[in-house]
Amino acid sequence: MTPSTLLRGSRVRLTALTQDDLPTVAEWHQNAEFLQLFDALPAYPKTETSLAQRFDDTDKATDAFLFAIHPLDSDTPIGYVELDGILWTHRVSGVSIAIGEAKHWGKGYGYEAMQLMLQFAFEELNLHRVQLTVFSYNQRAIALYEKLGFQREGVYREHLQRDRKRYDMYLYGLLRSEWEKGLKSQ
Ligand SMILES: CC(C)(COP(=O)(O)OP(=O)(O)OC[C@H]1O[C@@H](n2cnc3c(N)ncnc32)[C@H](O)[C@@H]1OP(=O)(O)O)[C@@H](O)C(=O)NCCC(=O)NCCS
Repeated sequence: MTPSTLLRGSRVRLTALTQDDLPTVAEWHQNAEFLQLFDALPAYPKTETSLAQRFDDTDKATDAFLFAIHPLDSDTPIGYVELDGILWTHRVSGVSIAIGEAKHWGKGYGYEAMQLMLQFAFEELNLHRVQLTVFSYNQRAIALYEKLGFQREGVYREHLQRDRKRYDMYLYGLLRSEWEKGLKSQ
């Protein structure tokens, strides 16, 4: 076997999320801008205890994989990326990503972390399809997913209400064949 490029890119690596990471992760979840980009649930700050419970549940689950995202030169995570709701019979999965602090956005970390996650999904887990939802006001995330080759497959029209306005939510999917084609054209 050739040396593995799994979980490690030229800028970031994916690791386990540990107990020691919880204060950093909880800090991200106090920020309303982050919460409204990431989640349709009310932007309600989360405690270390509730996050620990959620991450522990994911760790025990048989249909999810959660990784911390680290720049290569840092032991402090800048975000996390997750496969969840995997249907093993059909080899499909949801995916989500969060880079916690605005100072780390737009620097290419999300792109490389997602590339590593997709490599894990398609080459290690041998999945066939990966899908996600994104809010229409999250232009940075939409640009990221389209750059990775995700196709917009559907619109949940006026699905969200934020700041007195209604917004659509998009469904994006990426098939294994599309991902492989993207690799060849790189
Ligand atoms: C969405 C997120 C994961 C993207 O990761 P990132 O590291 O910030 O993005 P990248 O730097 O890899 O950039 C991806 C693409 O988006 C583009 N982009 C960056 N900022 C943008 C903006 N404000 N508007 C539109 N496109 C933007 C970049 O130009 C890049 O494309 P390019 O390389 O062709 O120029 C990250 O910003 C994040 O976690 N945000 C908060 C939580 C969130 O929104 N999660 C996703 C929920 S669906």
